[in-house]
Amino acid sequence: MSSSYSDPKSIDNISAEAAFSTVVDAWQGRRRFLQAAAALPLLSLPVGCATSVTRPDDGVVGFTPISMSKDDVVRVPAGYRATPLFRWGDAIGSAQGMPAFRSDAGNTADEQLLQAGMHHDGVEFFPLPHGSNSSTRGLLAINHEYTDDGLLHSDGMNRWSAEKVRKSQAAHGVSVIEIALRDGRWEVVRPSPYARRVSAMTPMRIAGPAAGDAAMRTAADPSGTEMLGTINNCAHGHTPWGTYLTCEENWNGYFANAGSIPPEQTRYGVNAKGAGYRWHEFDPRFDAAAHPHEPNRFGWVVEIDPYDPNFKPVKRTALGRIKHEGAAPALTKDDHVVFYMGDDQQFEYIYKWVSRDAWNRKDRAANRDLLDHGTLYVAKFNADGSGAWLELTQGVNGLTAANGFNTQADVLIKTRQAADTAGATKMDRPEWTAVNPRDNAVYCTLTNNSARGAAGQPGVDAANPRVNNTFGHIIRWKEDGDDFAARAFRWNIFVLAGDPLLPDAAKHGNIRGDVFGSPDGLWFDPAGRMWIQTDVSTSALYRGDYAGIGNNQMLCADMNSGRITRFLTGPKGCEITGVTETPDGRTMFVNIQHPGETSSERSDPAQPLAVSSWPDGPAGGRPRSATIVIRKDDGGVIGS
Ligand code: FEO
Ligand code: CA
Ligand code: CA
Ligand code: CA
Repeated sequence: MSSSYSDPKSIDNISAEAAFSTVVDAWQGRRRFLQAAAALPLLSLPVGCATSVTRPDDGVVGFTPISMSKDDVVRVPAGYRATPLFRWGDAIGSAQGMPAFRSDAGNTADEQLLQAGMHHDGVEFFPLPHGSNSSTRGLLAINHEYTDDGLLHSDGMNRWSAEKVRKSQAAHGVSVIEIALRDGRWEVVRPSPYARRVSAMTPMRIAGPAAGDAAMRTAADPSGTEMLGTINNCAHGHTPWGTYLTCEENWNGYFANAGSIPPEQTRYGVNAKGAGYRWHEFDPRFDAAAHPHEPNRFGWVVEIDPYDPNFKPVKRTALGRIKHEGAAPALTKDDHVVFYMGDDQQFEYIYKWVSRDAWNRKDRAANRDLLDHGTLYVAKFNADGSGAWLELTQGVNGLTAANGFNTQADVLIKTRQAADTAGATKMDRPEWTAVNPRDNAVYCTLTNNSARGAAGQPGVDAANPRVNNTFGHIIRWKEDGDDFAARAFRWNIFVLAGDPLLPDAAKHGNIRGDVFGSPDGLWFDPAGRMWIQTDVSTSALYRGDYAGIGNNQMLCADMNSGRITRFLTGPKGCEITGVTETPDGRTMFVNIQHPGETSSERSDPAQPLAVSSWPDGPAGGRPRSATIVIRKDDGGVIGS
């Protein structure tokens, strides 16, 4: 997440749900939980497209951990190698053209539409051909979360123009690229019939209960079912039938409303000026005063079929409208599809969605509209370790006409307000969710919340037990009856992140292993290793509580021992976000986002250049977000 552009620390949630004041003994709960988890049999993997491969792999962590780093390089353990594969501006390999990256950022908007977008985030490997378990050929779908316009244009944000807005819009969205392992090296296949860019200008369909609702209609689209583009594509998910889900996070920052801002826009953080993208100056649909319904068309989960380059992306409104971080999949025993989803802002909520229909394993096309029908829930964490999924359906939990919810479309377009009304628990910025394939426990990173306990803000509760929570924590739960569709769960805190060497006892973490803070990216490999990626914001990096902690990093938790150790450190000023593997676990793909980011003026290319020249080096021009490939020298399973 961008620090200055997306303003993750602003608090849009001012509803009056009472905070718990009891702090439970998280360690005691944790021991009980581990005993319970140990008694569970090994269960089937949560979802089966890219990851449902059984491996002779016990999830034990076997690498030698690395130290912290402030160097402008990617470091991995001895015996591993990390290589950039797909950098901002690299050609995707479209037959329509393969423009080379210009190191002065001189590429046009049209060229940018045929190149990697900026600021890679969520990523998923899809084997080729579809239905295979190939670990030598496949597709990568990669989110491009946002743009730093200082870097994106040769002269930064000077002489702001329609062409610059168009290039910024072109650098957003998703890349689909074909990759292949040739002679021990992964390469982008160019040209490839699968190569595709989805951008902020790509035609999309709106589907599900909110499609066509009056609040979804605009001057350009009186139907409320057709629109252009997806933005701020943060983390992601995928379906068992092999489609990609890209999740719209801080979409509010692209809008500006110089008029009187209605409460439904205020609740999502739309403000007078936006977050500095300046699209509204040349693209009037981002003027939220002139086009008050256009913001309602963002904040959704968008389905893309990477195997079909002509597929029209679909906004799936049944999954709710929030600042979506990601959508971690799970599968019930009777093949209903479940997604766990965070709304990443201070004091926002954790959601779950359960499909009405079962996944059709035999007929892929039969799943085309499966994501349009289901039930959305929001989490309430009780102080006694129990939890409830509160249903967000019109007519229940106070979601009545008297409270402003006349239809299910109202509930979904105003998901945050519906969750307020239902009485969900306000969390410390829910980021990624992930399901442990060994015991079906679900984990969520709560990256940080410096406002917890501040004057006029909610105080601590059992699930968010620290005031001024600068380091964040990871919470987890287990559904009742081991059923992902359950309405109740048991929870506890897996780890309080932080630096145990800090003198302030309230800030001590309980990490067993290496120090980290601001957990964000979270993923289980099929053997059950948990991978944690950090996003210490640029304004916090290297100072204050983070003075002793270097560049952002990726760590691995051995779930057999609970020990968390450092696997990777990124270059200066970056965030590590997004991780996926080939089915054999022998190649890992990781995204390095915004190397060289500075916390002050980001419209000026000189500032990031002074910090980082990764990955191309000092002679190469501008720092570039990139997907990297990680392999073991002996060809073994990553992490083993
Ligand atoms: Fe885009 Fe919440 O990170
Ligand atoms: Ca980010
Ligand atoms: Ca983050
Ligand atoms: Ca994130």
